[in-house]
Amino acid sequence: MTTIATEKTEAERAASPAAGVKAAGMPSSADSRSADAHSAGTGAVLRPAPSATPAQPASAPKHAPAETPKPAPSDPEASGAARTQAAPPPAFYTKDLSVFYGEKQAIKHVSMAFPDRQVVALIGPSGCGKSTFLRSLNRMNDLIPGASIQGEIWIGGQNICDSKTDVVRLRQKIGMVWQRPNPFHKSIYENVAFGPRYHGVKSKAALDQLVEECLRKTALWDEVKDRLHQSGLALSGGQQQRLCIARSIAVKPDILLMDEPASALDPVSTAKVEELIAELKQDYTIVIVTHNMHQAARVSDKTAFFFLGDLVEYDETNKIFTNPSRKSTDDYISGRFG
Ligand SMILES: Nc1ncnc2c1ncn2[C@@H]1O[C@H](COP(=O)(O)OP(=O)(O)OP(=O)(O)O)[C@@H](O)[C@H]1O
Ligand SMILES: [Mg+2]
Repeated sequence: MTTIATEKTEAERAASPAAGVKAAGMPSSADSRSADAHSAGTGAVLRPAPSATPAQPASAPKHAPAETPKPAPSDPEASGAARTQAAPPPAFYTKDLSVFYGEKQAIKHVSMAFPDRQVVALIGPSGCGKSTFLRSLNRMNDLIPGASIQGEIWIGGQNICDSKTDVVRLRQKIGMVWQRPNPFHKSIYENVAFGPRYHGVKSKAALDQLVEECLRKTALWDEVKDRLHQSGLALSGGQQQRLCIARSIAVKPDILLMDEPASALDPVSTAKVEELIAELKQDYTIVIVTHNMHQAARVSDKTAFFFLGDLVEYDETNKIFTNPSRKSTDDYISGRFG
């Protein structure tokens, strides 16, 4: 995999919208087979990790990491500890993250922290890089020919951009739910049991218990308990999406990434998925991409507005939707562009 060295100059970076956000003291700022295996938290058909660590910028950015990167709790900038001593450490954070497709830079120097067991919504016009950013968080962009990453993503004291990262384990810990429900061509039971079995759960009793637990957590158990051995594809679209969420949580992830998980669903199914997100955040840190501003306002604790690959503004959801700091955020949420 080629890493494209197209770093911005300091002057260019200072002129970018995200730079203003940082200055204001904000948190500084497939193929279907692969996607399916990943969705089960196995990463079974995934390519190996790239062989090189991300290239270091020619000139260190203002928020360059310390020479020996520290785990999340001791990183004041990313954790927000500089602002609030008692702020809990984030579940994970990115530092100066850039993503390229060939020479095209789709994500530009994004630094942001994701609070533990909260929901963060990523919003912005089509093509601004939301999915690219989301996929980079569990190295799914590794699967795209020509894609490369610079910068850091710190989870549990580990920079997952490091070439030593076990991507199979990583994708077990960081689950993904796609826009279109993509159950396996297997039974409802097997959809949920597949990931745990792959990761070594052999006992039928343990699998039975896990399947029931995950289907209960996704509010699907009562609807499917009498037909567990029917095809997952025989469910409605909304049920299929909840089955995919059940499949994701079956491998006990810490973080769930959701790319427009309700955009293909009817309003009733959408409401169920939103209720589910509210439930799941008790146990998981969730990042959700959505084009639905009402949905972002309803489900998220914090919202990040992206534009042309820049993180323009990132703040409490209430603040973003009532009193955003940046005009472009205001224009976007008011429907004046995008
Ligand atoms: N596989 C790819 N190869 C090359 N360029 C890509 C690829 N995927 C995305 N891009 C480009 O990267 C940029 C960001 O795309 P991305 O899909 O991340 O945007 P998005 O914000 O998720 O858009 P949408 O809201 O339409 O889903 C776009 O310019 C897009 O054309
Ligand atoms: Mg997208």
